[in-house]
Amino acid sequence: MDARTIGIFDSGAGGLTVLHDCLVTLPHEDFVYLGDGARCPYGPRSTEEVRRFALEVASYLERAGVKLIVNACNTATAAALPLLQERLAVPVVGVLAPEAHAAVQATRNRRIGVLATEGTVRSGRYAQVIRTLDAGAAVLSVACPKLVPMIESGGSNDALVAAVREYAAPLKEAEVDTVILGCTHYPLVRPVFERVFGRGTTLVFSADETAREVAETLARKGIENDPRRDGECTFLTTGPPDDFRSLGERFLQLPIPSVDRVSLSELELEAA
Ligand code: DGL
Repeated sequence: MDARTIGIFDSGAGGLTVLHDCLVTLPHEDFVYLGDGARCPYGPRSTEEVRRFALEVASYLERAGVKLIVNACNTATAAALPLLQERLAVPVVGVLAPEAHAAVQATRNRRIGVLATEGTVRSGRYAQVIRTLDAGAAVLSVACPKLVPMIESGGSNDALVAAVREYAAPLKEAEVDTVILGCTHYPLVRPVFERVFGRGTTLVFSADETAREVAETLARKGIENDPRRDGECTFLTTGPPDDFRSLGERFLQLPIPSVDRVSLSELELEAA
């Protein structure tokens, strides 16, 4: 048994979708969530920049004494997961391999679509991981730059539906039967994706698959907390705490009583 906390990080509040699934799967564990709100979004940034930010944030969590780190951000996983695993002593679980694995298992025609940020698509990581699992699978990835800002602003549903239709069109044209929703924000508008793709397409969301991987990792390493207890969550952000709280309460549908701020200078020191 291991009473230490699990660290989860993301570019902002989107990774709370992953925290939600972790809370459903592991209600007895304690979590500390760190959102890099001051530097969000990561999606349009260069790989080098995202790697530096991810290393700073994950190093901060490791120094805080967590037993495992969940890199809940798809863009940061695509850019930096191997780097974090090389540099840190604690296990780091990313959001990309669990979805790739689920998609390869689910597809019947071996045509898989990916919807994600520009950074994630540019990295080509989904296609690489899928092909290590099934070298004959065809992968088509589409960058969706409009979706994160639309989901965060909670604006017009018509505009969101039109954007999802636009990004889905090339995947439908290519007759994929399985689509990876490779971004923290997409589970928040799950019904829109379900209606646009219909029953014939299997949708794979990072949050469900990652929570399963976290639970398996804790169990296999023998570092689970006592299953009879109730876990607790603490929240940290590099951005304005009030912004995090209002977006976070909407995303998580849970009251967030307090959010503490971590300064960027503290983070930069951690990775130095
Ligand atoms: N968290 C990012 C991801 O999952 C989306 C938001 C951003 O661009 O930072 O790729």
